[in-house]
Amino acid sequence: MCGIVGYVGKKKAEPILINGLLRLEYRGYDSAGIATMEKDGIKTIKNKGRVAGLLDIPEISNLEGTMGIAHTRWATHGKPTDINSHPHMDNKKTTAVVHNGIIENYVELKKFLTDNGYEFLSQTDTEVIPNLINYYYEKESGKTENSFLSAMSKAVKDLKGSFAIEVLNQDFKDKMFVIRKDSPLVIGKGDSENYISSDIPAILSFTKDFYLLDDYEFAVLSKDNIDFYDLNLNKVSKSPKNITWDMSAAEKGNFDDFMLKEIYEQPKAIRETIGARVSKDSKIVLDELDFTKEYLESIDRIYIVACGTAMHAGLTVRKILEGFCKIPTEIDIASEFRYRDPLVTKNTLCIFISQSGETADTIAALKLARSKGAKTIAISNVIGSSITNEADYSLYTHAGPEIAVASTKAYTSQITLLAILGMYFAETLGVAKEEVDKLKEEILEIPGKIEDILKDTSKIKTFANRIYQEKNAFYIGRGIDSCVAMEGALKLKEISYIHSESYPAGELKHGSIALIENGVTVVGIMTDPDLTHKTISNLQEVITRGAKTFVVTNQDLENVTFDEVIRVGKVSPYLSPVLSVIPLQLLAYYISKEKGLDVDKPRNLAKSVTVE
Ligand code: G6P
Repeated sequence: MCGIVGYVGKKKAEPILINGLLRLEYRGYDSAGIATMEKDGIKTIKNKGRVAGLLDIPEISNLEGTMGIAHTRWATHGKPTDINSHPHMDNKKTTAVVHNGIIENYVELKKFLTDNGYEFLSQTDTEVIPNLINYYYEKESGKTENSFLSAMSKAVKDLKGSFAIEVLNQDFKDKMFVIRKDSPLVIGKGDSENYISSDIPAILSFTKDFYLLDDYEFAVLSKDNIDFYDLNLNKVSKSPKNITWDMSAAEKGNFDDFMLKEIYEQPKAIRETIGARVSKDSKIVLDELDFTKEYLESIDRIYIVACGTAMHAGLTVRKILEGFCKIPTEIDIASEFRYRDPLVTKNTLCIFISQSGETADTIAALKLARSKGAKTIAISNVIGSSITNEADYSLYTHAGPEIAVASTKAYTSQITLLAILGMYFAETLGVAKEEVDKLKEEILEIPGKIEDILKDTSKIKTFANRIYQEKNAFYIGRGIDSCVAMEGALKLKEISYIHSESYPAGELKHGSIALIENGVTVVGIMTDPDLTHKTISNLQEVITRGAKTFVVTNQDLENVTFDEVIRVGKVSPYLSPVLSVIPLQLLAYYISKEKGLDVDKPRNLAKSVTVE
């Protein structure tokens, strides 16, 4: 949800900022802009549309400054227009700001500033920030760095909501100021140059040493120095973390798109997520947790809370937690959980799943659960992300950076880690030994089975070619397959803009079957031997009404014909989503390609949703 990048050093800032923005575009791509400190003051260049559009603005070649800030926007307040694009400046044109997040009380602040003679050009919430800083700065007695920080601190104390803010001010020709609260921001330390970014991969080609800012921490960056302060301007000492990610993880390599690359990275991502946690003949190793049998027996229920694809991953582990461990388990959407006074007690365990670890609703839901005394576990792909800072325990998937907006390898890594967590609970409780032992063997074989699916995707491509002009699709399955149906339908609508819905297979006939007519595609997922024949019947019901059927299965289907059948390897239904989702990811991908769409940056979406 908006990407920000900053640079101060010896080199010309503009190309570095553009390079960073291009890598952050997955976070939002409605409009873009940069501001650099030039000899004669701050210069801003911004426009509606993609980052690449900035390069068509002739004035960009005049930017020579070695310090600057930049932004790529996912519009919340105010349409994507040139004027609403960041950076925003105060009325006196002395302070430039880029912002990721939402200022919830901007209407009041705008009124306060308007009453004090300030004027506003844009419809954004952000524009109050440079003006508020300016308001306080003018009241300070001097024009020192300390007085500017003091003004920033006062301004920030007035802001409600979430923000990661970069600031340039005319009086400080070689210093940039940043602060964050509930929105991501990292600082990269270079050699006589320093960087700011919304995420690590965007600046990984420049440095591997990163500082993570806590909520309400300031950083003041110059070419050779970075100082950190708390909100009361006391100095804070920090040491950089060395990130060992390989740069190629954030590059497309030989693939056309990040999404395809990430689909193909799934065997590796899952191997890394399994790591040393599972081996055939020993107990599950989850050193991050210290749960005892007594503690697990005392749990009254488990809530698994997340948004989007991460919520779909959460659905898949209920079968283990309820079936093996007999712990009542509910899966909830974070934006609902946080407002419905859930039955959370001190004996409730709440698990929060977020690839980015920065999703606003998930963070808020986690804070709510903690305030009610629950124990909390965060599952994230990003080390040091907000949910991992908030939770009692953190477990990481090791999927590597996921850049495409539509999640693929993060989803399958989350399911893998959740299954491991479920097995750990079962082992600690001393239940379902035989089943868990079998699952251990199976989970270790999953990466190889994904490789098998990926060896030949031609049938999926051909089917995509047949249906890409359709307007509607339905995804059905029973039991754990209904969870995968949800994810399959989401993938299709996200990147191909085809209207798609998912249903537990037995539910379709209770109304929605009225929408089945000649040519409508129905995707059936069947991996549970106990339920397959039921779903077959439901597919027959739609075939007789003219539907085209695409089936993903690991079962032997006899005496039934579907338009296409994609076979995946046999595993028990506890783990089957990790395999059965792969053809669905590919189907959505190939349809999007057939339609000539931008697979990695689908319309209206953003990868990291740091607003409510
Ligand atoms: C957005 C993304 C989805 C993602 C969801 C939750 O909607 O487009 O792909 O599943 O956010 O993100 P998280 O980072 O919390 O997993």
